[in-house]
Amino acid sequence: MKDFAYLEKNAVYLDSACQSLRPQPVIDALNDYYMKHNSCGERVKYEWGTITDEKVEATRAKVLKYLKKSSRHYFVSFTLNTTYGLNLLLSQINIKAAGIKTIITSDIEHNSPFLSTISCAKKNKLKRIVLSRNEDGSLPIEKIPDHALVVVNCASNIDGRLLVNIKDVVKTVHKKHGFIIIDAAQAMAHSKEILYGVEPDAICFSAHKMYAPSLGAIVIKNDFAKLIDTTFIGGGMVDDVDRETYLLSKDNKEHNYTQFESGLQAWGEIIGLGAAIDWLNSLSKSAHQELVENSKKLFDFLKSHPHIHLINQAPATTMSFYVDKKETGFDSHILGAALADEGIMARTGYFCVHYYLDHVKHYPPLIRFSLGYHITSDDIDKVIAALKNI
Ligand SMILES: Cc1ncc(COP(=O)(O)O)c(C=O)c1O
Repeated sequence: MKDFAYLEKNAVYLDSACQSLRPQPVIDALNDYYMKHNSCGERVKYEWGTITDEKVEATRAKVLKYLKKSSRHYFVSFTLNTTYGLNLLLSQINIKAAGIKTIITSDIEHNSPFLSTISCAKKNKLKRIVLSRNEDGSLPIEKIPDHALVVVNCASNIDGRLLVNIKDVVKTVHKKHGFIIIDAAQAMAHSKEILYGVEPDAICFSAHKMYAPSLGAIVIKNDFAKLIDTTFIGGGMVDDVDRETYLLSKDNKEHNYTQFESGLQAWGEIIGLGAAIDWLNSLSKSAHQELVENSKKLFDFLKSHPHIHLINQAPATTMSFYVDKKETGFDSHILGAALADEGIMARTGYFCVHYYLDHVKHYPPLIRFSLGYHITSDDIDKVIAALKNI
């Protein structure tokens, strides 16, 4: 694809689930900020600052539109990444005011929600339940109790499995007087549609997994935000400060997003996210189709190989497998290094899903291929040839 023309000819980057490659328009937007209007947002009166403010506000609107969420019910705050967003919510939530009695997560979570829910449960002396997701990615809704705070992903970073019953899950949680925070880190780039028509209380994601610069975001319902105490606090969040008191800007409806934006923000990266959303929206049907076909071609090969133990039940842009040392004489780490020698960049290990992959499934370290729009059919042929060869 022309927007990745800067890629070296032999480089096959298969680590998009960690961070996508950035297309040229996103790099250009970031460069434009640095070279044409490098300035602090929200505070300055000179023209560069006005341009920055306009583009930052446009990005907030683009995020909501991308997820089909209304600005009447939700607002967008920028953070460092998904982990940071989840921790801001879970460490500051007023459990008593929210009436939360149990915290729920699932077994296939990234350490990001997995650990932050442990921490939240300990701090608030809450019972924490780890539900097993079904093979198809659905959550057993009958096991969700009343007054629960549910924190789960809607797309897995192991095998792209989706929370296929997300609509029922959100409805059930709300019917039972609970709240639900969705980790959308793996959904934003290629599966955002799963979030259409559902109204979770908050959605956290990482822009760097959706072709944008390194950045996080919290998309949160106005009502839910009121249940989050503001204790992580500093510059950019207040309208007035006296010796022992302060007036939070978040209470001014127009500046509600300041609730989670302490200190100076990553203005260039935020603007880059806006450019990434424009770029994703501009992609043709054939670009999507190519990604689907490339994923399927790689899936078919991985599934058919006698020494490749594939975790995926279905093709996805993220696929994980392991090789058995007894069968092949080498493990996934060695395979990863051998692929790297051929210019093929894949991930090995447990991808921050230690509990499920190591302690539940007892898999040996895995190898993960995660594709993006930069991958060509020739790249897939090269990967297949390299795997056969090794
Ligand atoms: C499903 C999922 N959740 C959360 C995270 C954490 O993202 P970050 O490291 O950007 O905070 C990741 C990262 O890979 C992920 O895949």
